[in-house]
Parts: sequence; structure tokens; C-alpha cells
Amino acid sequence: MNAEKLIWTEHLSVEFEVPGGNVHAVSDLNLAIRSGEVLCLLGESGCGKSVFGSSVLKLLPENALVSGQIYYEGRELTAMGEKTFRPLRGKEIACIPQSAATSLNPLLRCGKQVDEVYALHVNSDKKEARKNTLALFKMLGLPRLPQLADDYPHELSGGMRQRVLVAMGTTAKPKFIVVDEPTKGLDWARKREVVERIGYMQDQYKSAMLLITHDFSVAEALANSIAVMYAGEVIEYGPAEVILNSALHPYTKGIISALPQNGFHAVAGFSPSLRNIPTGCRFHDRCQCAENDCMSSHPELTAAGKDHYVRCPYA
Ligand SMILES: Nc1ncnc2c1ncn2[C@@H]1O[C@H](COP(=O)(O)OP(=O)(O)OP(=O)(O)O)[C@@H](O)[C@H]1O
Ligand SMILES: [Mg+2]
Repeated sequence: MNAEKLIWTEHLSVEFEVPGGNVHAVSDLNLAIRSGEVLCLLGESGCGKSVFGSSVLKLLPENALVSGQIYYEGRELTAMGEKTFRPLRGKEIACIPQSAATSLNPLLRCGKQVDEVYALHVNSDKKEARKNTLALFKMLGLPRLPQLADDYPHELSGGMRQRVLVAMGTTAKPKFIVVDEPTKGLDWARKREVVERIGYMQDQYKSAMLLITHDFSVAEALANSIAVMYAGEVIEYGPAEVILNSALHPYTKGIISALPQNGFHAVAGFSPSLRNIPTGCRFHDRCQCAENDCMSSHPELTAAGKDHYVRCPYA
């Protein structure tokens, strides 16, 4: 990928102020996403994936303390007030939320919910907005058109509701989309369908994407590059095929060997509490290859090959 950097972070850290000690959700993140690139964030539950997604969308809760910078087309998002950012949210930087249950209004017809997002950002009349919504629904393979647009969310299956969310997130043809766990809770067939549709939309609009998932098959299908997170930091980063086929970090290798097709060899132990970050390498107490200094010396993310970075001096 030789396109220009579209969005990038410099030493981004996010902490939450909670009684009894701060939660260090994201630590010193340096990532870049190019125009049209799909970067997948992989990692166990609680490692900071969604917090990073929310920081790009400037949707962090009030107890969040952000340090470092996020840039979008050279403009510093982290320095922007809500008023300056609001016109960008949804139009240039959009999201496909995790849950249809909480993101669709149960009292509004599905088509209208997509019409409204389009009308808000593209300055169109109702007729044009509906025409656009129906074209999008068709592209997403939704059946019974145009009638389906007049259904309420509860009248649709889970997979169809998820596709309505894809339509809402992409209707203004954003340059960058945060997609958080698009297949969570879907069965295998629906998952495949949603992945195919997201891939198709991405191909049509060439939007760059931050794809958050803990599902390797989703990453395999859609990602150009993969960043693996562990306890708030990136421990390996590189082109998707390199991470999937020749990972170097013991944690990445561990989660790959835990996949069903590789025999379910789960990584023993648990991720550390983000209120009490271990000294040295954050993974040392679960690592089969740990050396003495892994307990005391915190490794840097260093180059291990072309565009491939790993946070382990022994990998
Ligand atoms: N508002 C908040 N206040 C305090 N801690 C928070 C808050 N929001 C998130 N956290 C903590 O930040 C850490 C990272 O959470 P995050 O939601 O980013 O995890 P995740 O990687 O997306 O996990 P999952 O795969 O389960 O969605 C967790 O320890 C979580 O408990
Ligand atoms: Mg999450």
C-alpha cells in the first residue's frame, strides 16, 4: 500500500480515572492507516480495542484522560473541540457500531434511520435520501425492497439489522470508518454474509477502515494490515499475511495456535489488570519463552522485517 497516511496516532494513551487507581486502557499507541487501507485491531477482551476506536471518534466518556495525538489528514483531532469535530463525524469519519440492539431506534422505521444520516451530511431532500437508502439496501443484499425500508428494526433478522447498521455507517461515503466487532453474536452464515457485505462496501467506496475484532477469520477476510494488542499496547504490527502466516511475538503465536483449526491450544493464564500494569514485558508471566530481563525491562516495538514490528527482543 503506497497511499497517503489518512489517520495516525503519536504516542496516544488513554487512562480512565476511577476510584482506587487509574485504568491504563491504551498505552503509547503509534499507528497509521492509509487511504483505502483496512487495519484490523486484534486482541483479547479488555485489551483496549474499543477505547482506541472511541478515541478516534471522540466519543470517550468524561472520565477519560487522553495524552498524545491523533491526526486526520494532518489536522489534530485530539486538539479539536466538539463543535469543530461534529461536522466530520458521520460524514468523513464514521462508525458501524457494535450492537444493532442499542444503535437502531426501535420506534423508527429502518429506511428513515438511514435517510436521516444521509440528509444530515449530504444536504439532500427526502426523496433523494430515500433513493440513496434503497440503492444502498440493494447493494447490501437486503430483500423485499422497497417495502423493507418501512419495517421497524424488530421486524428484521439479526443479520438484516446488522446490514442496516452498515448502511447507516457508510451512507455518507466516509473516508474513514471504525467498525467495532461487526460479527459479534452472529451465527456462522450471518457472519460470512456481513463480512462479505462490508468487504463489498469497502471496495465500492474505498474507505479506510479500523476493524476491531477478536475473530481471526474476519481479519483474514478483510484486513490489509493487523495490529495485535495486549494489555493496552500494540505488541505486533504488520501486513495481514505476515501476521497471519509468520507472526513472531509469543502472544500472537499463542492466539493463532488457540484457533480451532490449530487445535484450540489456548494461551495459559489471564491478561493483567489495566489498573496494575506489570513491570517489564506485559506478557512475561504468560510467556513460554520469557527470559530473566523480561520481568524488568519493557521492550520497545522494533522493526522485524518490511513494515513488520514486534515488541519482543527474543522473537
Ligand atoms: N468508562 C470507563 N471507565 C473505566 N474503565 C473503562 C471505561 N471504559 C473502558 N474501560 C476499561 O478499559 C479497558 C479497555 O476496554 P475496551 O472496551 O477498549 O476493551 P476491548 O478490547 O474493546 O474488549 P472487548 O473485546 O471485550 O470489546 C478495560 O479494562 C475496560 O474495563
Ligand atoms: Mg470492545
